[in-house]
Amino acid sequence: MMARSEGSIFKLCFLCSLIANLFFGVNLYLGRRGVGGWKWSSDEVNVQGLSWSGRAAAEAESAAARECSGHGRAFLDGAVADGRPACECNTCYGGPDCSLFLSSCSANADGGDPLFLEPFWKQHAESSAVVVAGWHRMSYSFSDQTTLSQELESLLRKLHSQVGNAITDDKYILFGAGSTQLLNAAVHALSHLNSSFPASAVASIPYYALYQMQTEFFDSADCSFQGDPARWKNATNTTGDIIEFVTAPNNPNGQLNEAILHGPNVKTIHDRAYYWPHFTGIPSPADEDLTIFTISKLTGHAGSRFGWAFIRNEEVYQRMNTFLQLNTMGVSRDTQLRAMKLLKVIIEDGGREIFEFGYKTMTKRWDRLRKTLSMSNRFSLQKVAPENCTYFQKVREPTPAYAWVKCEREEDKNCIEILNAAKILGRGGSVFHDDDRYARLSLIRSDDDFDMLISRLESLVSKEDGAKIM
Ligand SMILES: Cc1ncc(COP(=O)(O)O)c(C=O)c1O
Repeated sequence: MMARSEGSIFKLCFLCSLIANLFFGVNLYLGRRGVGGWKWSSDEVNVQGLSWSGRAAAEAESAAARECSGHGRAFLDGAVADGRPACECNTCYGGPDCSLFLSSCSANADGGDPLFLEPFWKQHAESSAVVVAGWHRMSYSFSDQTTLSQELESLLRKLHSQVGNAITDDKYILFGAGSTQLLNAAVHALSHLNSSFPASAVASIPYYALYQMQTEFFDSADCSFQGDPARWKNATNTTGDIIEFVTAPNNPNGQLNEAILHGPNVKTIHDRAYYWPHFTGIPSPADEDLTIFTISKLTGHAGSRFGWAFIRNEEVYQRMNTFLQLNTMGVSRDTQLRAMKLLKVIIEDGGREIFEFGYKTMTKRWDRLRKTLSMSNRFSLQKVAPENCTYFQKVREPTPAYAWVKCEREEDKNCIEILNAAKILGRGGSVFHDDDRYARLSLIRSDDDFDMLISRLESLVSKEDGAKIM
């Protein structure tokens, strides 16, 4: 009799423990809004000995666990639907879980969103995640009274020496809210440096539109935008300094541009946003007076707004620093923490994994694009010469971030209009101050965007009279 009731008590205890484990387990997984709206109190979450970060981790995992049918993603700071972070769908997908294919929508090849690297970070979810304490770096400055993380600085210098794309010895470094802010700081620093006359900013056509937009919008009395440098090439008696933007690889056409202008009154801003093995061979390390990089096209984290500049001359460095301090008092410490974490992942294996992933992804995309347009007599692609890559130790075809498409037919004077009519979004040549016979298509967006682009191009090309048959 006794033995039977002990047995029942044991079974009851076992069942209760099972139910309790299930309840807490599911709640830990679901995070803040657990089963039946139940919430964790601060000391109830204890993941492998963690205390305060357990709930944050559960929340982050709960958002990340939303699959969104493989065509979107949910974020902790996004809209909430049914008590959970809602799916944010890729272009051409909709519905609460992004499973709805919007077959009549336009392929998005506009903008420079670098989501091609998103799958890499999903594969490295654990090593790249950051937990930010509520009291993380609340001060205006680090304890050494600067606004710049020494650890992040040394990681950046290490990364460049691993990749071999920049010599950083004997150069000052500054951080900016993306390279966008550093470009602005550089123009300020180089204007009125040695001359009492206003400076002229120039960039070879086709050029990234921001250079002109920024210079004109901020409308400094010290500098005005003057377009292509060609007309200054043989000018001997220019008043004021000339600031040349040199973009290598270039946005939009992927060419490894070099400075056109030289001389005592010429200052050069080297924009190296795309000088990474995803996009180009690295023939030699950049060793310039003023070089700007960005995390946007290195890791793909454009949203974090982080860029850095190497500067040889102390006065230029001081002037840029003054601009950055007066403008934003440095870069958000939260952003610096994030950048540091991402760089650590890259540096761990000397960049092998990320650059192989990036290069492979871009190569596959270029192969598909070339194959599609090889059927066409109407559209052609830019030609970029193969480069020796000291990083991969081979000569390789460049895989630029953008296709610079030319409409070859005499009557196709506005290429982007033709592409838009075929449900392809991109940017017209005139945005880059070139002929509208050209259009830029982004190849660094999500897999979905790229697949849709190829599908729209295939159907456009198949309608051509005399299109080549596969
Ligand atoms: C050539 C070039 N420079 C600078 C930028 C701006 O980058 P960031 O996100 O660092 O401001 C871009 C962005 O597309 C770019 O293409």
